[in-house]
Amino acid sequence: MPTTANASFAAVKACVFDAYGTLFDVHSAVRRGGQELGEKAAAVSELWRQKQLEYTWLRSLMGTHADFWQVTSDSLDFALSTCNAVDPALHAKLMELYLSLDAYPEVSATLAKLKDSGQATAILSNGSPRMLDSAVQSAGLGALLDQVLSVEDVGVYKPDSRVYQLAVDRLSVQRSEICFLSSNGWDARGAAHFGFTVAWINRFDREPERIPGEIRATIHTLDELPALLGLA
Ligand code: LAC
Repeated sequence: MPTTANASFAAVKACVFDAYGTLFDVHSAVRRGGQELGEKAAAVSELWRQKQLEYTWLRSLMGTHADFWQVTSDSLDFALSTCNAVDPALHAKLMELYLSLDAYPEVSATLAKLKDSGQATAILSNGSPRMLDSAVQSAGLGALLDQVLSVEDVGVYKPDSRVYQLAVDRLSVQRSEICFLSSNGWDARGAAHFGFTVAWINRFDREPERIPGEIRATIHTLDELPALLGLA
């Protein structure tokens, strides 16, 4: 069904994007460099991502922050070991590929449309500044983003409200004037609970998370975003 302009988004002044899973395909690392994993490849990639997220939540609860590069390395270590695929060279290769993940095909054109219509654009991500800069440059998105914001500035992970507040402070807009986009259902809920106007990019046909936060729209790819904002 085509998306139509949604009144909830009428006051939006800035579009803020989650990075991993939303703009960048986290499974492209194993797809490009994990041939030797054979039939274990999908399991390793899924477990890597799941553990990576769990470790961000656990470290935030434990008060033991380490940056996303460390968390990504630790979770890959766990995934390879669980799947009986420990291999230091493969670990190093997959980590290196994480610095140049594929952007989803519609990302660049969507960002260009938003910029043309005068919207501010930003990333707000768990990623460390080095990881984000590298992914943005390798996907050629640098000129299409006004700001790239990392949780490293607050030393805690999503969905802690201090992370979402960073975007409010840096973009100098009200919470509700930020259209926040994430494919991660828990991040979409967390951002909505904070007060952003949220569109969940349900790329993977997932069930909505059963946690607080009112999501204003659900779309399947970023292609549908300009119409939602009344720009198309
Ligand atoms: C991020 C994680 C949630 O980019 O994927 O913040």
